[in-house]
Amino acid sequence: MAGEREQWGSGTGFVLATIGSAVGLGNIWRFAYVAGENGGGAFLIVYVLSVLLVGAPIVIAEMALGRQAGGDAATAFERAAPNSRWPLVGWLGIVSSCLILSYYAVIAGWALKYLAGGMLGTLWRTAGTDYGGYYARFIANPGEPVAWQMAMLAVAMLVVTGGVQRGIEVVNRYLMPTLAVFVVGLAVYSATLPGAGAGWRFLFLPDWSALTDPHVIIAALGQSFFSLGVGMAVYITYASYMSPQTRIPVNAGAIILGDTLFAILAGLAIFPAVFAFGMNPEAGPKLAFITLPQIFLAMPAGKVIGALFFLLLSAAALTSMVALLEVPVAAIVHRTPLKRWGAVLIVGLTVFVVGIPLAMSYGVLSDIKVGGRALLDALDQAVSNYLLALAGLLVALFVGWRWGRHNALAAADLDRAAVGAAWLWLLRVVAPLVIGLILLNALVGV
Ligand code: PHE
Repeated sequence: MAGEREQWGSGTGFVLATIGSAVGLGNIWRFAYVAGENGGGAFLIVYVLSVLLVGAPIVIAEMALGRQAGGDAATAFERAAPNSRWPLVGWLGIVSSCLILSYYAVIAGWALKYLAGGMLGTLWRTAGTDYGGYYARFIANPGEPVAWQMAMLAVAMLVVTGGVQRGIEVVNRYLMPTLAVFVVGLAVYSATLPGAGAGWRFLFLPDWSALTDPHVIIAALGQSFFSLGVGMAVYITYASYMSPQTRIPVNAGAIILGDTLFAILAGLAIFPAVFAFGMNPEAGPKLAFITLPQIFLAMPAGKVIGALFFLLLSAAALTSMVALLEVPVAAIVHRTPLKRWGAVLIVGLTVFVVGIPLAMSYGVLSDIKVGGRALLDALDQAVSNYLLALAGLLVALFVGWRWGRHNALAAADLDRAAVGAAWLWLLRVVAPLVIGLILLNALVGV
């Protein structure tokens, strides 16, 4: 058992670390390609609705659960519902975190590779603007993606070994504000490209018929969960280091707003360029890695800005990896005599090994397809669209119905506010209904 429990150094430290966990590859890499595959504007509407009506209430619920328990994800349920099976929901979150980390590290490795390429200049010297070719050569190599994946994991492991205040908090405090400035700048630049309007229209003009397509709705819900980081026990874990004075609703609001704005801004950086350069918005997971270098190459001082961008992308990925790693590490430290570094080593190595075939899944293992998708892509879809949705559903049911109205409202700092009733209603009725219908639809085969 851990002795003295760690805490965030300040309320701002908590918010920045949590925004750091929410904002990551999901906002830039995943948002762009999933929105691209699902029709842009229609997707965006469903996405924002599902953030507000389903994601946000669950974020608050997870924070409330985490802070009252001051332990790992499973402890949160053990305290709130002793002698029940509910702690399994915590374990589900812990397992999902590890699964996500296993492929997240791979894509984060791509970002690091592009950072190195941008700094050394190799990224800019590729034949013409053939970034499709650059990407294809990188990914076809059996060892390179694995090496970059390992490098990213190693850095995340170092940060988490440093602990909550000295590791996680410090890294986030500097990186997150810088990244925000950057994305705004890029979105503005992208808007000046000839033909940028088509990108704006793609993102903001909905094709209403897409709204009747269950795939679009599932994809939007899955993306909102992934991007907020709901269902992975990250909020439960991070909130467990929170001081009782920090108000949950305000913090949750800042995190949700920050995460959503960030995704939209990243879309405004990417889609105008996709159209300006005549690329296909449905390119899938490689979208950002092919379009972004092209924008940079076309802009003045683009090589410097491009290298900086990939630095920040790697950093955003890092802060999310740190959060994903902290979830299982907190559980091990809490339950075994192992020290932090020992737990980090065990989880880090396991995740690395699981990730190796995923890193190769676009190259040497690209013949292996699951449901028509490469291994990494298939795992990402399965976890984000179904596992996270299931965990989110269970959290909503637990906090909404099982925990007790009074406990839930008090733990969420919503006991005196009228919004408390609205929050509970969303948790009790809206979230379960929406997620339940979607899962059901998926079970009977969409
Ligand atoms: N939300 C992060 C992103 O958008 C990914 C993540 C998921 C981070 C779950 C932490 C927990 O990239």
